[in-house]
Amino acid sequence: MTLQFSARTRWALQPTPYALALQAARASSAPLFDLTASNPTTCGFEYDSAGILRALSQPECLEYEPDPRGLPIARRAVANYYAEAASAKAAMEQIFLTTSTSEAYSYLFRLHCDPGSEILIAQPSYPLFEFLADLDDVRLMPYSLFYDHGWHLDLAALVARITPETRAVIVVHPNNPTGHFTSAQEREALERVCREHRLALIVDEVFLDYAFDSSAKNPSSFAHGEHPVLTYVLSGLSKVAALPQMKAAWIAAFGPAPILNEATARLEVIADTFLSMNAPVQHALPYLLANRHSVQRQILERVRRNLAVLDARLADSRWTDATALSRLEVQGGWYAVVRVPALCSGEALAIRLLQEQRVAVHPGYFYGFDGDGWLVLSLLPNCEEFAEGTDRLIHFFR
Ligand SMILES: Cc1ncc(COP(=O)(O)O)c(C=O)c1O
Repeated sequence: MTLQFSARTRWALQPTPYALALQAARASSAPLFDLTASNPTTCGFEYDSAGILRALSQPECLEYEPDPRGLPIARRAVANYYAEAASAKAAMEQIFLTTSTSEAYSYLFRLHCDPGSEILIAQPSYPLFEFLADLDDVRLMPYSLFYDHGWHLDLAALVARITPETRAVIVVHPNNPTGHFTSAQEREALERVCREHRLALIVDEVFLDYAFDSSAKNPSSFAHGEHPVLTYVLSGLSKVAALPQMKAAWIAAFGPAPILNEATARLEVIADTFLSMNAPVQHALPYLLANRHSVQRQILERVRRNLAVLDARLADSRWTDATALSRLEVQGGWYAVVRVPALCSGEALAIRLLQEQRVAVHPGYFYGFDGDGWLVLSLLPNCEEFAEGTDRLIHFFR
């Protein structure tokens, strides 16, 4: 019997040559310098394990009292987070808990899109969006960012992509992997365009708390200030508390009253259909959020130090123009982008680095960079591994 499968699941399921090379490199006993590591729970940070486990085992965790928006105690903790981290007022009724930012996107796609609807998304950006959109029958329309002493929004290019099917614009703030914040002027321009074209603004702020310059000229959270258009701010524990295994995230919805009320009423029905949050993590959320600072400090120290190592190694190396490597400007997040000579395709280059230097990096095309010659390095690995990986990378090009 031949089963029928949906067209949206017609994926190429065979591993790519890069995935196979990575698998082989990981299986071998020789050390691998993994500059793709992005799981904070395996990067040697110290967590308050006893406190976390205590927070997860409160007697209330055994009760089932579902609330489609999330338990009040947990939503209050998220509201407090915005008050503290962004001087922003988010009422509890505006907050919806989800198991991940990915699930939050899916709720919003279902809220705003019909099959064939379009969502605008920056390029380069985080690669998971394509799968999320496919699963909800939404079309992603990329708008380019351009680099000129920092990354900028090409507003004209964005406007040119708007069609009658467009429903929303996604902004990642700061963006992954370019690590740039949307400026206050860009925010204003985006809000103007969204108002003119009746689009919602979806802002992913999972890396908001990881600004390198804490004296911060960094623009604040989109939760802060006025909201002339329907604005959804997304974040979650996977980056805010470096606890991806907890599966807790949220949507904070803002906007003019009538449309905000309509949006949240509909969103509640979507959330009620799944009731996907579990009780233990919701009861633990106040503790997990209140105790985020220690691990955030460790991560910021690590990424700043690794960035300094990368810069020092790049500056020390004597390059000819043909072999030069340069790091792009970055304001926050867990990644750095390095411009490298385009010796071969991005995938072939990443495979050669694995096989010849035992260094794992992400080629830029994973994130939608135009053309070859871009590598994305995670700044999370421990400093010794990062320094050795960087040395090997530079050695390869020299
Ligand atoms: C920009 C961005 N959004 C969302 C996520 C996923 O977050 P979650 O674990 O909450 O789904 C990631 C993960 O790296 C990310 O980089």
